[in-house]
Amino acid sequence: MLVDPHATCVVLPPGLDLGAGRGRKPGGDSFSLLTREGCLEGVLLVTLKTRRRLEAIERSSLEQLVYSASHTLDVIQLLEERRAEVEKVTALHRMADQSRRQIEAVFSAMPDAVLAVDEAWQPIFANEEARTLLSLGSICSSGSLDNTSGGGNLTSASGSPLWALFPAPVLEQIEASLRHAADTRSEMSCTIRWPSQADAPERYFAMRGVGHGSGTTVSLQDISRQIEADARDRQAAKMKAIGLLTGGIAHDFNNLLTVIMGNLELLQIDEGGSRHDSGSIEDAFQAARSAADLVHQLLAFARKQPLAPRLVNVAQLLREMTGLIKSSAGPLITIALTFDCASCHALIDATQLQNALINLAVNARDAMADGGTLTIRLSTTVITADSPPERDGLQPGDYVRIDVADTGYGVASEHLSHVFEPFFTTKPSGAGTGLGLSMVYGFVKQSRGHVGIVSTPGTGTTITLYLPRSLDSTANSTASVAVESQPPSGNGETILLVEDVDLVRHQTARMLRRLRYMVIEAADAQQALSAVMCGASPDLLLSDIELSGGINGPDLAQRLNVILPDMPVLFVSGYADDGSLNGNLVEPGQNLLQKPFSFYQLGSQVLNTVKRSVL
Ligand SMILES: Nc1ncnc2c1ncn2[C@@H]1O[C@H](COP(=O)(O)OP(=O)(O)OP(=O)(O)O)[C@@H](O)[C@H]1O
Ligand SMILES: [Mg+2]
Repeated sequence: MLVDPHATCVVLPPGLDLGAGRGRKPGGDSFSLLTREGCLEGVLLVTLKTRRRLEAIERSSLEQLVYSASHTLDVIQLLEERRAEVEKVTALHRMADQSRRQIEAVFSAMPDAVLAVDEAWQPIFANEEARTLLSLGSICSSGSLDNTSGGGNLTSASGSPLWALFPAPVLEQIEASLRHAADTRSEMSCTIRWPSQADAPERYFAMRGVGHGSGTTVSLQDISRQIEADARDRQAAKMKAIGLLTGGIAHDFNNLLTVIMGNLELLQIDEGGSRHDSGSIEDAFQAARSAADLVHQLLAFARKQPLAPRLVNVAQLLREMTGLIKSSAGPLITIALTFDCASCHALIDATQLQNALINLAVNARDAMADGGTLTIRLSTTVITADSPPERDGLQPGDYVRIDVADTGYGVASEHLSHVFEPFFTTKPSGAGTGLGLSMVYGFVKQSRGHVGIVSTPGTGTTITLYLPRSLDSTANSTASVAVESQPPSGNGETILLVEDVDLVRHQTARMLRRLRYMVIEAADAQQALSAVMCGASPDLLLSDIELSGGINGPDLAQRLNVILPDMPVLFVSGYADDGSLNGNLVEPGQNLLQKPFSFYQLGSQVLNTVKRSVL
């Protein structure tokens, strides 16, 4: 630079310019550093060793230097401003990134599938659920919100619109309404049925789409469990309604059949087969017996059959009836019995359990016309509040579990929800009444258990019974089959007969008299109590459980027990009301005669009860 080498140059900030701006002076000079806009940034102070003025060439060099410095200052300032701007933008990016991550976290945590599409129906965001459901995982590198910037691609390879990601039947259902929501910036909602894939069951989703101008947001909530629960509730309500109807009809039929059968039986006995129409009487009697069986099955389904619950060792019962099961299943079927518990007890009606198992074995036989294996597995299980909902209705506790599995043709899925309904049968006319499984259903439910069915067409069917387990194993009883012979008669003992249906009472009284008993008839509990108060001292109370007049059979028995503590009681019932189920009214082991009863059954039950009380 063309300046005196002994000169000193100092740049001073504005305000400390020590005479700058005051013009030239001997021994030095000062130069202002100005920005583009003319603002004073500082002062270059030049001091010479000698007292002289700056040469023109020195001055011009210094002025150039000051100009360059001012320019450099401008550049620095500009850079500063840029840096600040860059920092601001970076901070904004960071904030945007953070909020994006937060939104993603919220969407990922949602149990619903959430998906956003642009105006061309191309997915631009999908949370984890949506990617799994719509199989987006395989065609996109990430499901993040910034897919629009090219980081990943959520669209399908063909670039097809949103609905192409849904299975065919769903696609048709949603396309029009989604388009409408997008065009009108409105909301659409519908329930969609997702077809079952591979082994997975069918699913249901509540779908909601909101059009917002720059695209559409879609959410899918899995409501399969709710739909299943509703279907189960509807099925249970339907079964209950059918049960009420059949139970009511069966109840009235029972009383009528008691009278019809009793009279036919008396006719048969009176004439001893000497009448020319004895064949007709026998036919009528047979028909009445068939009707009684039918009524019994209907009552069983309606959970109204009078049960005689006893403590039964189910393992022993199964072992004892192996032969019966084998003969019911037929020679083509291999029977495999598996016991996961050597002994387990349940408070149930053993005869009804036997009937249920025979019904299941016969069904299995019919399903394996060309042979197969029938496996019966006995185990115990504990039901907790968390147990799967398909065992709904079961109280938490210990249960005896019986699985009856066959390798037959299975049940078609559309039939599965109907198999327990009365009269549902797929068998040819005359081959099945459709009452077998409904009887099993009613018996198990009435015993406070549960019955479930799992079936795969072509592979086989498993029916599972759950029966409340009794941890008391002190008693044991299996059903004994009564063999009818000559009706056992009495010896002039007095029977207090309480029955509110006149026809039935008259008929029963007639049979009892024929059996050589004295009979006091009462149409309700009040009449029975009056008779005893007036001095009657019967040897047996024979009373219907359900009585009109406000006092039922078991209540009457209790009141009479105060006056006549040694008098035995035999209850009669054709219909177990909810209050009398399984011994709520009739205690386990108490004497119970089921309507319609035969002359023999009446005679032997009455005689047994009277005899037992004498012992
Ligand atoms: N093990 C099984 N395998 C395949 N289908 C079965 C099986 N058990 C029951 N089903 C189906 O359920 C229907 C109803 O059975 P259910 O036992 O109630 O009546 P049914 O056997 O047809 O007649 P019934 O038992 O009164 O003689 C049957 O007709 C059959 O379609
Ligand atoms: Mg059957």
